[in-house]
Amino acid sequence: MGLFKKNSSKKSAKNKVIDVLTPKKHEEVIEILPVLVDRFDELLQDEGLERGSTTIITGGAGTGKTTFCMQSLYHGALAGDKGVYISFEEDTTKIKHHMLKNFGWDVEKLEKKGMMAVIKVDPSKTARMVEGTLAKEVGALRIELSKMKLPLKPDRIAVDSLSALSIAFENERSYRKYVRELFEMLESYNSVNLVIGETEQNPDVYSRTGVEEFLADGVVVLYNIKHKGRRKNALEILKMRSGGHIKQMVGYRLTGKGWQVQVEEEWEEVLRGAPPKPAKAKRIQLRKMKIK
Ligand SMILES: Nc1ncnc2c1ncn2[C@@H]1O[C@H](COP(=O)(O)OP(=O)(O)OP(=O)(O)O)[C@@H](O)[C@H]1O
Ligand SMILES: [Mg+2]
Repeated sequence: MGLFKKNSSKKSAKNKVIDVLTPKKHEEVIEILPVLVDRFDELLQDEGLERGSTTIITGGAGTGKTTFCMQSLYHGALAGDKGVYISFEEDTTKIKHHMLKNFGWDVEKLEKKGMMAVIKVDPSKTARMVEGTLAKEVGALRIELSKMKLPLKPDRIAVDSLSALSIAFENERSYRKYVRELFEMLESYNSVNLVIGETEQNPDVYSRTGVEEFLADGVVVLYNIKHKGRRKNALEILKMRSGGHIKQMVGYRLTGKGWQVQVEEEWEEVLRGAPPKPAKAKRIQLRKMKIK
């Protein structure tokens, strides 16, 4: 299997800068930060993600979403970039404990050095604040949101997760409104933002309301495919506004060192066995047959 682009030189954690000539012939500089999750960057034409962009990492339970984001922030911090992990769900002590125990990543040590921060934000408080503001219709939502003060100026941000946030909202309209504001706020930090979503194990719907994947600059879907009595993981880059990317499924494994992207592995056999056709598609076929 060929990679989208392979760099012959040894991988560097250094940021890349791409010069773009705008129609006004003004030179605009877009900085690219590598994701640093094993060989994931080789799947992207730019070998990283743009500052000010937001990418959704979505997949079923246990597919490695938290590990992917933490691996990016942790290795980024080791390379000199600051990272903030915002948890809407799991306790911060528990997350750090699991990262150290499972992968040997001492997040607390990097927190003490001021390179990382893991913070918990209560989604129900956020939801009540947003719904209260919307009910008053005073249009002060953005002012309230800017109160989410981060402990350091981040180069990378991870948000875990949109589903933990969405269930805290009583109505979908307020959630949609908040997600839009949240994405705008994340982009204003000029950091590379990873936002976790949750789906079924073999998804054909990638987010709860559908609005999230349209707002995001990139969507990476994680699959947990059953094959010959075992489950295998694969990722798919569904969308990446910033540039070209590999179009086929790529296998990955979770190991004692975190994510291992299996760029060389053939996935055809696995994919022939699964995933099953979505029930919705089957229903449409049946209806068509009746009409005939
Ligand atoms: N040291 C390890 N070696 C191999 N696999 C591991 C190791 N530690 C954890 N895992 C795997 O990682 C999975 C959990 O990864 P992670 O918490 O990142 O997933 P997630 O998608 O965030 O899960 P959730 O849906 O619960 O939020 C575990 O279910 C386990 O299979
Ligand atoms: Mg998780």
